[in-house]
Amino acid sequence: MRVAEITEFGDSSTVEVTDHEKPEPGDGELRVEVKAAGINFADIMQRRGHYQGGPEPPYVPGMEVAGVVDAVGDGVGRDVGDEVMGFVNHGGYAEYAIANASGVFDLPENMSYAEGAGFPVQFLTAHNCLFEWGDLEEDEQVLIHAAAGGVGTAAVQLASNAGAEVFGTASTEEKLSLAEELGCDHPIQYTEVDFVEQVNDITDGDGVDIVLDGIGGETTTESLKALTHMGRLVAYGAASGEPGTPNTADLLFNNHSVIGYHLGQAMLRTPGKVFGAVPKLNGALESGDLEVIVGHEFDLEDAAEAHQFIEDRKSSGKVVLKP
Ligand SMILES: NC(=O)c1ccc[n+]([C@@H]2O[C@H](COP(=O)([O-])OP(=O)(O)OC[C@H]3O[C@@H](n4cnc5c(N)ncnc54)[C@H](OP(=O)(O)O)[C@@H]3O)[C@@H](O)[C@H]2O)c1
Repeated sequence: MRVAEITEFGDSSTVEVTDHEKPEPGDGELRVEVKAAGINFADIMQRRGHYQGGPEPPYVPGMEVAGVVDAVGDGVGRDVGDEVMGFVNHGGYAEYAIANASGVFDLPENMSYAEGAGFPVQFLTAHNCLFEWGDLEEDEQVLIHAAAGGVGTAAVQLASNAGAEVFGTASTEEKLSLAEELGCDHPIQYTEVDFVEQVNDITDGDGVDIVLDGIGGETTTESLKALTHMGRLVAYGAASGEPGTPNTADLLFNNHSVIGYHLGQAMLRTPGKVFGAVPKLNGALESGDLEVIVGHEFDLEDAAEAHQFIEDRKSSGKVVLKP
């Protein structure tokens, strides 16, 4: 089978398309004929060698897929031919991938494979950061960075549907138009204006209740200045390449909380908390209240180009690979 493999840590030129043996499912596992594989920013950080606990090359990246069950191991309550979406333990950038049955869900009938591949990581992250970790309430205000990105487009819809007032940042007008269409009340082009000043102007100097921060570095430092008293910042990523470094003296003075979120660790340690919302989210996807925004589709052969596209900040919504 064809796979896209990371041959060594480095830039996008280290992604190579090659052939591997088709993997066999073990007990509790199933094999998916991959119709679409999601690309996540974490795949890029892992490829660069900058991801805590990430895999060592050579490895096949890709933590989520959608496709058709093609073989099942013992103890798996699924049939060959089922259409599914879900998590794989690396190896998603391939024609076939192995998944633990517990991390695989039915593909909702109205969803394409590309949309299915855009659900697991980004929608669960957005939902969990907002509600399970961030405790967002309906009358609250939330600032979502990279509001037109994969997690961002999910988070904007979820927060807006929950009745929150949504502030969103992005680098271009085009990205902000997308965020606005999805329910962002206050789009902020942070490349043109100071987002802290904008938030504080709109909130009469008070600040927002929650910040969703997948950027880190200086963005974390600045975001804390846009939080109200008792506000929470959910730190879930470092797309800037730098972790955030909150000042604890400022945190205590403002009664601020900084909450860390890592999907992979949470899936291992508190799966009920991570997966509890899946039926509700799938219902909303089926009814059209939520939509997976697939911004770009690349052939598996062009996986290196797809990585570079995301790194160049050209992507909006979900980026998927088609084997
Ligand atoms: N903790 C977890 O379990 C978890 C799960 C999923 C994702 N994440 C993290 O969440 C963040 C978003 O992930 P995603 O897959 O949805 O990616 P994404 O938001 O679709 O893409 C990243 C976006 O971040 C913004 N950005 C800001 N500074 C950047 C920089 N220096 N280089 C590249 N992009 C930069 C860009 O948006 P603008 O052009 O609008 O600035 C870019 O489009 C990432 O940090 C990712 O690692 C964490």
